[in-house]
Amino acid sequence: MKLFVSEGNPHCLKVLAALEVTGVQCGVEYINHEEKVVPFLSRPTLPVLLLPNGQHLFSSNAICRYLFESNGQESSELCNQWLEWEATVLQPALLQALHMAVLQGKGSEVIQVLKGPLNVLDQNLSKGITPYLTGESVSLADVVLWAALYPVLSDSSLASGEQKSVKTWFDRVAAMHSCQSAAQKVLQGKGLQAMKSFMQRQPAPQSSQCRDSQPCNSNPAESEEGERFVSEEEMEAAYLTWRKSLNTCSPAMDTQNPILPQEGKRNILVTSALPYVNNVPHLGNIIGCVLSADVFSRYGRLRAWNLLFVCGTDEYGTATENKAREEGLTPQQICDKYHAVHSSIYKWFQISFDFFGRTTTNKQTEIAQDIFWRLHKNGYLVEDTVEQLRCENCQRFLADRFVEGTCPHCSYPEARGDQCDKCGRLINAVELREPQCKVCRQTPVIRSSKHLFLDLPKLETQLEQWLEKSTSTGDWTANAKQITRSWLRDGLKPRCITRDLHWGTPVPHPDFKEKVFYVWFDAPIGYLSITANYTDEWEKWWKNPHQVELYNFMAKDNVPFHSVVFPCSLLGAQDNYTLVNHLVATEYLNYEDTKFSKSRGVGVFGDMAKDTGIPSDVWRFYLLYVRPEGQDSAFSWADMALKNNSELLNNLGNFINRAGMFVTKFFEGCVPAMELQQEDKKLLAVVGWELQQYIQLMDKVKIRDALKHILNISRHGNQYIQINEPWKKIKGGDSERQRAGTVTGVSVNIACLLSVMLLPYMPAVSQTIRDQLNAPQSCIYTMLQGTGTFACALNPGHRIGNVSPLFQKLEADQIEALKKRFGGQQTTLQSAASTQPAAVPAPTVGVDGMTVVGVDPEKAKQLTKAVAEQGDKVRALKAQKAEKDVIAAEVSKLLDLKKQLALAEGKNPEPAAQKGKKK
Ligand code: 2FM
Ligand code: ZN
Repeated sequence: MKLFVSEGNPHCLKVLAALEVTGVQCGVEYINHEEKVVPFLSRPTLPVLLLPNGQHLFSSNAICRYLFESNGQESSELCNQWLEWEATVLQPALLQALHMAVLQGKGSEVIQVLKGPLNVLDQNLSKGITPYLTGESVSLADVVLWAALYPVLSDSSLASGEQKSVKTWFDRVAAMHSCQSAAQKVLQGKGLQAMKSFMQRQPAPQSSQCRDSQPCNSNPAESEEGERFVSEEEMEAAYLTWRKSLNTCSPAMDTQNPILPQEGKRNILVTSALPYVNNVPHLGNIIGCVLSADVFSRYGRLRAWNLLFVCGTDEYGTATENKAREEGLTPQQICDKYHAVHSSIYKWFQISFDFFGRTTTNKQTEIAQDIFWRLHKNGYLVEDTVEQLRCENCQRFLADRFVEGTCPHCSYPEARGDQCDKCGRLINAVELREPQCKVCRQTPVIRSSKHLFLDLPKLETQLEQWLEKSTSTGDWTANAKQITRSWLRDGLKPRCITRDLHWGTPVPHPDFKEKVFYVWFDAPIGYLSITANYTDEWEKWWKNPHQVELYNFMAKDNVPFHSVVFPCSLLGAQDNYTLVNHLVATEYLNYEDTKFSKSRGVGVFGDMAKDTGIPSDVWRFYLLYVRPEGQDSAFSWADMALKNNSELLNNLGNFINRAGMFVTKFFEGCVPAMELQQEDKKLLAVVGWELQQYIQLMDKVKIRDALKHILNISRHGNQYIQINEPWKKIKGGDSERQRAGTVTGVSVNIACLLSVMLLPYMPAVSQTIRDQLNAPQSCIYTMLQGTGTFACALNPGHRIGNVSPLFQKLEADQIEALKKRFGGQQTTLQSAASTQPAAVPAPTVGVDGMTVVGVDPEKAKQLTKAVAEQGDKVRALKAQKAEKDVIAAEVSKLLDLKKQLALAEGKNPEPAAQKGKKK
């Protein structure tokens, strides 16, 4: 037996350390990097172990394993897992880090590149009770990982020292004389410089900036990046995984009913913001909350997490009362009607709620009142008298938005009760001059009324302590953290939690008998009451912060209520509530180049999607593909057609269909025998890497980024088929036919993996693929375990089912027609709500002699609505305390819209107040 090594080669450090630690008898020969020991390898590889039977081992981890086994030390399952992780996750990152440090002089960037893997190692070491990776004594895993990390961690200029447990473990292994001696032999005390000549001979680690857990900046699906370097180690590791049998029992998806937290499991509670019952949700609402939460929930179930996903309609408040008045129904009837509308929309979109409830229930009253009394008892409620406008004609207090009058600051005649759109100042409704009830136009009177306020300033310190912990340990999106910070920066003020309304949860305090809770106090309590309507044991989820991890999904305008106000209610109530651990907020989805708008008839609303003839899965795919993750994005018909035709049809569908068709046509429907060559193993490694990226991203709720890795896999698969041409080889001699079999077998197994990865995104298509492949159910539960397992699930001899195309082309004329149908009137109003400030059109005469802009009642009607919506937007931004210039930009759009409206009504676009201001 003889071991061939070279100086300065970090892989040789592993095998020499293993040799010294095990004490196995073996000759060692130092040779040059360029010398070729293994005759059939295309490029020289070291280290190499020449076995007594004349065979060669040329994977350093395989050599280490062989040495340990020769010494009677079989490796445990845990040890194997660490080796696999080392080869597939750590090595690629190390290669990049060493490349930067040794050849590019970018030592300072090494920490960043290695941060992900080192954190993983650190977390595992810090929770272990044993001094070494797999137990009380040094194992194969310790030697391999230690030697791999040695060049970086022994160099004080590179190591960050952040991962304390890694450091302790590393020093412990380093203290062994055998390890020190191996390191001395390979690096000769010269540190990284000893590796220069070796590193210069390595292929540059391309595109490896995408390797850590951070998503790539560039879009991996769209960028034509160079081929990723795959090491021999990676290929061997991928091949080992591939050969693992998938017949292991599935981690029992024996769904318990009701689902309750279980000891020793990851107990995940998922909520998506409760949609207002009186609005039909549009695509932007759907992607922001329920669809995102659904993808994550489906993924979590595949990961065998013990997961509960709840949602329901948010039913109380002024908006419901008004809708009831509009439709001539009672508020309860409105809620019943629209709750059913919401349910059916979400059913069509295949949202897999474990329970979809509503807020108008007895449980809601019970729980909201309990929280109220606890806050009261603990001294977190304060009383104050508020002056409000009351319309005696309508017999109700007027919410700020339902009163209009003249601005006390600038005399603008159409100021609303909460702000003036002209001068932008915030207004207290009672200060309005000549106030009018917006419903009946009567003059309201001022009444003073006592209200209760949640004492946020008193809870601020507790809140900050909790936030510090939650945001640092959980996955909060950047916008969620930023919005929360800006709320706190301005200091918290007491918030009124009562309202003079009828349609709400009654305030139980005898002094406030006539009042109900304010919707934003009440609505989040809906999460608890909805769970309570699902199971009497709801407290096991909601009063169990140590066992339960809570994910809240929402659009960004909901953030402050979930990160500040609601947590304060729960902290103040002091009943060991489960508070949010991961606050996942999307940005906004626009419709083409404008906003969704019910009143202007612009955009696709949930109930219309199914009438387009486009399948629910394709809708899901496209919405997830453009998910406003990290920045606003837009739904576009043309782009939807493009993505359907290129990604789904030509890429994904084409690959899966071809793989299945080859089995059907060339191998009578049975998976052929496979003899894997290096090229196939390389593909396994590449696919395995994409799978790992997918898992890392999904674990962090980067849903849009993770989807791109699915599409990358089918792209690799198509390339592989294209290069190997099984349809030609099947007509050749024995070895060619065998090659066609291997390529087909590998491809059809990749198709099976794709079906599992697709499940959270396209549940129906995912099931269709497995039906077509007749795939065993077990593959669903095994492939996404741990860091991902791409194993052969369809073995030679497996009979597949009937294969047929998965997707249909979206034709240009079809898309044009849909665009027209859903575009609303935005052809005339395009400038009105577009992101560009609208130019004020001057009345003019068109070339055909017709007046094109002038008095236009239809347009005026549309503009009135556009003005109302823009006004809402401005108020919402102010309520959220958005940046000043963001608000200013929206106010300026609003003023433009008003000018257009004035023109359409034949009025002077410059209101009198403005003129009066000019000196
Ligand atoms: O913005 C909205 O649609 C609210 N109905 C969300 C409420 S989320 C939760 F607090 F209930
Ligand atoms: Zn009125």
